[in-house]
Amino acid sequence: VSSDLTTPGPTDWSRPLVCPILIGRQHELKILRYRLASAWIGGAVFLLGDPGVGKTRLVSELLAMSETADVFPVRVACLEPERAEPYSLITKIVETVGLSLDLLCDRAGSSTGRLRQIGHALRTSLVRLTAGKPLVLAIEDLQWSDQSSLAVVLSLVERPSNLLLLATLRTSPLPGDVAKFLAETNRLRVSTEIVVRPLERADVARLIYATLNLAAPVPSWTTL
Ligand SMILES: Nc1ncnc2c1ncn2[C@@H]1O[C@H](COP(=O)(O)OP(=O)(O)OP(=O)(O)O)[C@@H](O)[C@H]1O
Ligand SMILES: [Mg+2]
Repeated sequence: VSSDLTTPGPTDWSRPLVCPILIGRQHELKILRYRLASAWIGGAVFLLGDPGVGKTRLVSELLAMSETADVFPVRVACLEPERAEPYSLITKIVETVGLSLDLLCDRAGSSTGRLRQIGHALRTSLVRLTAGKPLVLAIEDLQWSDQSSLAVVLSLVERPSNLLLLATLRTSPLPGDVAKFLAETNRLRVSTEIVVRPLERADVARLIYATLNLAAPVPSWTTL
């Protein structure tokens, strides 16, 4: 990743308009790197913020370091229509890592005890897959998780283990059950919340220039 913004060049409109470098976010990255380096103690990190503010970008930057950090990354995303489907998130995790769905079917039911059992069985199976490396489970858009999956995810992180949960959430607004889930991880003292705020104006200008592969922003742009 280059941080050279001074060389003007033509904008290539055929490539996706994604900023080639991460702008700002040093503070957020510092916390994330620390949690990645100590992924073996588990817990959860939540990236909270408005749509488009840069939550997913931070997850991508962190997961790009997985190899160096010697962790086993798994990434899934919740979708809005799946919120009404029980176990949709957990099913996705199970399928993504190639585990058998029997894990869920054998324990079907929605009592708290059952959901915790599923969580513990899933954690054991996930941790077994990673050949001793800590597992980093990245869940995008957790605000759209179904309720039964949330209960299972809670039991994945409620005790120290080799599994670090990294989740993004839109906060506008947070559904009640998701807010309760966050409060519970907070009560258990296993979570860190990072509020991702909009970039400063000068950084927005840098982002636009870097995305369009233009020369460094002239100072007057940054004060608009
Ligand atoms: N700090 C940054 N540096 C460079 N590009 C960024 C930065 N933050 C965000 N972007 C870019 O802005 C766009 C939107 O960011 P992103 O997808 O991470 O937002 P989000 O918070 O996950 O949004 P949503 O809630 O819709 O999922 C992406 O193209 C991303 O690469
Ligand atoms: Mg996102």
